Amino acid sequence: MEQRHEKFHYRTLEQLQARAAELGVSLPFAQDTHVLAEPVKVRGLVFPNRLGIAPMEGADSLPNGSPSDYTTQRYVNEAIGGSAVIWFEAISIVEEGRSSRTQLMLTKDNLEDYKVFCAKIKEAGLKANGFAPYLIMQANHSGRYSNPDNKPAPIIAYRNPVYEQYRAADDSCIATDDYLKGLEEKFGEAAALAKEAGFDAVDIKSCHGYLLAELSSAFERPGLYGGSFENRTRLLRNGVQAAKVYEDDHFMVTCRLGMYDGTPYPYGWGVKRDGSTEPDLTEAKMLVRQLHSEYGMDLVNLTMGNPYVTTHVTRPYDAGKYLPDEHPLVGIGRMIDGIAEVRREVPDMVVYGSAPSYLRQYADLFTAGAVEQGMIDGMLFGRMAFADPDFANEILRDGRIDPKRVCLTCGKCGDLIRAHKPTGCVVRNYKTFGGFYQEFVEEKKGLPENFRG
Ligand SMILES: Cc1cc2nc3c(=O)[nH]c(=O)nc-3n(C[C@H](O)[C@H](O)[C@H](O)COP(=O)(O)O)c2cc1C
Repeated sequence: MEQRHEKFHYRTLEQLQARAAELGVSLPFAQDTHVLAEPVKVRGLVFPNRLGIAPMEGADSLPNGSPSDYTTQRYVNEAIGGSAVIWFEAISIVEEGRSSRTQLMLTKDNLEDYKVFCAKIKEAGLKANGFAPYLIMQANHSGRYSNPDNKPAPIIAYRNPVYEQYRAADDSCIATDDYLKGLEEKFGEAAALAKEAGFDAVDIKSCHGYLLAELSSAFERPGLYGGSFENRTRLLRNGVQAAKVYEDDHFMVTCRLGMYDGTPYPYGWGVKRDGSTEPDLTEAKMLVRQLHSEYGMDLVNLTMGNPYVTTHVTRPYDAGKYLPDEHPLVGIGRMIDGIAEVRREVPDMVVYGSAPSYLRQYADLFTAGAVEQGMIDGMLFGRMAFADPDFANEILRDGRIDPKRVCLTCGKCGDLIRAHKPTGCVVRNYKTFGGFYQEFVEEKKGLPENFRG
């Protein structure tokens, strides 16, 4: 069967494993999920289970960047769902770096709203499950994908012809060294605000083609932020340094790091320098080692791909208009093997994995298998959490995710976010997001160029 048209059709785990074997992919699956109920220890902190929610932008903030009632409800539901860690969606550190007019943004002016927001989420978790989830704020600059007024206003690291096939940019969009230097302190401010708001940690985000991630592949950029490994990682490292000032026994600085972009050198990071898209994680390993040993970072989440260009690498899927040539199981294998390869370099660090949702009702045994085999310490679930915010409690209580509530990787949550509409699961929460999706379909004409799922 042609790989790109193959839908998820596995009635048993054995069938899925057999297909993976045919494709030359070896995936870890446990016999049961009991390991996921074990705590994760990082520094003096204990997360009561190994399940977490991945950052999922909702495009549902108020115009000033404060959470709306939708946003609050989304996170309250997630807290009730029982995951020990909620890794919040991208929250912009500056107005011009917002991905939309309705992307969350934390500032001195709306700090009080965020205090209420974090308190409500923790209270909901505590009441439902006896613990408050560990809340990590993802501090981001959308860079090339900035749309502060719902129109593209890219701020780029360098001219990238591969990325620019999907979204136009010109030389005037290139961020100056002075601009980048100024952002270093903004990450420090974001950490201070996050801490005051009641988040437990801040993530200096460097993944998925956004500004810091794009700098990792700025091989040909002149000046302080391009060329050498040291220069290309300068903004991330200095952002981490600026944020570290606010660390204490509880509040941590962490990073969601993209290890591999899936686009050929010199227009992507983490690839062999032979024009192919084969991963080469040498620099990702160097960077994670450095973040741990020189910057004292003890927790990291690893991911891959650029969802605007190599969507299937970031989040394997099998439905929607733009089907990749690659079988999703190959993407799942690349992700977990890459994470495990980096984790072996930093055995003392706590490493969270990404992108289990394509596996539907087998995502739980997969996560447990990856933990048992030492590939990860915990897993962040993305689209699954939109489809079924209770997935963690189902696993912890029943031993398995409810197969009737799993994500079907239809890609419509991604379509909505690209259209700057509030997003969530169109399939499982049709009443709410089906309406937004209908509007999206009707208004399609006026939307930005890229609607990949
Ligand atoms: C609608 C949508 C919004 C997302 N927003 C973010 C985000 O704000 N920050 C981030 O790092 N990743 C974001 N992601 C990527 C997810 O966190 C996750 O890495 C990806 O969906 C793969 O995990 P999954 O297979 O469990 O869905 C988003 C993905 C989707 C579909």
